[in-house]
Amino acid sequence: MLVPSLFLLVCELLTSSQGLDNGLALTPPMGWLSWLRFGCNTDCEKKPTECISENLIKRTADVMASEGYLEAGYQYVTIDDCWPEKSRDDDGRLVADKNRFPNGMKELSRYVHSKGLKFGIYEDYGNLTCGGYPGVMGHELIDVASFAVWEVDYVKLDGCYAEDMDTGYPLFGKLLNYTHRPILYSCSWPAYQNSPNYTAIAESCNIWRNYGDIQNNWQSVVNIMNWFGEHQDDFAHIAGPGNFNDPDMLVIGNSGLTVDQARVQMAVWSVLAAPLIMSVDLSTIKQEFKEILLNKDVIAVNQDPLGKQGLRVYNEDDIQIWIRELSNNSRALAFVNLRTNETEVLYTHEKIKLPTQDYIVKDLYGEENDTILGSTEDFKVKINATGVKFYKFIPKADEVDPICENEIK
Ligand SMILES: *[C@@H]1O[C@H](CO)[C@@H](O)[C@H](O)[C@H]1NC(C)=O
Ligand SMILES: *[C@@H]1O[C@H](CO)[C@@H](O)[C@H](O)[C@H]1NC(C)=O
Ligand SMILES: *[C@@H]1O[C@H](CO)[C@@H](O)[C@H](O)[C@H]1NC(C)=O
Ligand SMILES: *[C@@H]1O[C@H](CO)[C@@H](O)[C@H](O)[C@H]1NC(C)=O
Ligand SMILES: *[C@@H]1O[C@H](CO)[C@@H](O)[C@H](O)[C@H]1NC(C)=O
Ligand SMILES: *[C@@H]1O[C@H](CO)[C@@H](O)[C@H](O)[C@H]1NC(C)=O
Ligand SMILES: *[C@@H]1O[C@H](CO)[C@@H](O)[C@H](O)[C@H]1NC(C)=O
Repeated sequence: MLVPSLFLLVCELLTSSQGLDNGLALTPPMGWLSWLRFGCNTDCEKKPTECISENLIKRTADVMASEGYLEAGYQYVTIDDCWPEKSRDDDGRLVADKNRFPNGMKELSRYVHSKGLKFGIYEDYGNLTCGGYPGVMGHELIDVASFAVWEVDYVKLDGCYAEDMDTGYPLFGKLLNYTHRPILYSCSWPAYQNSPNYTAIAESCNIWRNYGDIQNNWQSVVNIMNWFGEHQDDFAHIAGPGNFNDPDMLVIGNSGLTVDQARVQMAVWSVLAAPLIMSVDLSTIKQEFKEILLNKDVIAVNQDPLGKQGLRVYNEDDIQIWIRELSNNSRALAFVNLRTNETEVLYTHEKIKLPTQDYIVKDLYGEENDTILGSTEDFKVKINATGVKFYKFIPKADEVDPICENEIK
């Protein structure tokens, strides 16, 4: 019955024009993914604490639940590539690697759920995954059925060795929907195309990777920021509750970024309404990076309920300004210094494209006291080398004057 049902699905796709509305990702998803930090390490004998295995996932889930990550909003624990056996079983089903996942995916999923977290898994809409493991092509129904049985909450579907993504990704999304299980759908579809149709992508996917893989270094973070700034008109307006652009994982906590650079990534990803997906060994992460990942005020910008993606509004001489509109007429402003020396700059309201009014200015990394910025005043910012100053601008008129409030009482 596999062929006729797939055929019916394709017909249904051709006649439907609804957007994806599965109740998930109303704000950008937050979680952890194995890839950037642990890659395709399958050698548990040589590197027992670094291989893709149930031990790694359980250890990560334990730390996320006990050390404040879940409380801060990081909910999804997702296994990237290289988890299955190289061949399917006699019934055509995917099987988790028997040495590295001796208790199987269903047990692992139960473990993750028992910690109050959600469970994610990787597959690929091709014959093979990027790492050479079995892909879903030709096995879509049976793989989606396995994910439902395993109580998967998040599927990252990659695009190596895939053909005809414009049909395949929507089809797979329909199959996920037919499980009746809410499964967040992360698509790599646009990252493999030259001029993606973002309207069509948002109709099928909760989040989607627009661009190449992030690497463990500052230059890679800057390249992705610049690409998102240059192409923002193509896709920023598509983002909103339920659907978000994905500039890829947070590098924060690994060897590749300094504390200042890590603050830049966290700030700009929050302005971009990007999924906040960590990829780091949470059992050994240093305190100063953990603080960045757990910064409540910055996370609140990322999770703002309007779900509007911010824009790069200024980019000159290695200084960039990124602005995101937030609820209650507030704005988040990230002043990024790409230079290798500390820099002090003066901005007018016009240059930072702000409505002319008085603002209360809050430093989201908490190093400066709140200040009032008058509507005719210039704004002076001192930014560390390869660093950021990240502020929330709150219209002063909208704030209740504490003195008046007292008088009313
Ligand atoms: C399936 O799609 C329908 C229509 O978009 C939506 O209302 C429903 O929430 C979806 N269900 C799941 C489980 O994804
Ligand atoms: C996938 O495998 C099938 C059957 O071997 C083959 O016909 C098809 O061309 C392959 N597709 C890709 C993208 O390699
Ligand atoms: C993009 O997708 C939308 C929605 O599926 C469709 O209406 C539109 O025609 C497509 N645009 C192009 C250029 O193919
Ligand atoms: C700037 O650098 C100084 C010294 O390295 C550091 O103490 C401070 O936290 C940094 N400030 C920001 C906003 O990153
Ligand atoms: C907006 O303001 C209202 C009233 O002060 C407050 O209850 C609400 O939490 C604010 N929303 C956000 C997202 O800050
Ligand atoms: C930083 O370097 C730039 C040139 O890259 C220079 O114009 C600027 O004056 C320097 N700033 C400081 C504070 O040294
Ligand atoms: C913040 O305000 C307090 C109290 O007025 C003051 O002692 C402190 O130096 C200020 N901090 C900064 C960074 O300006």
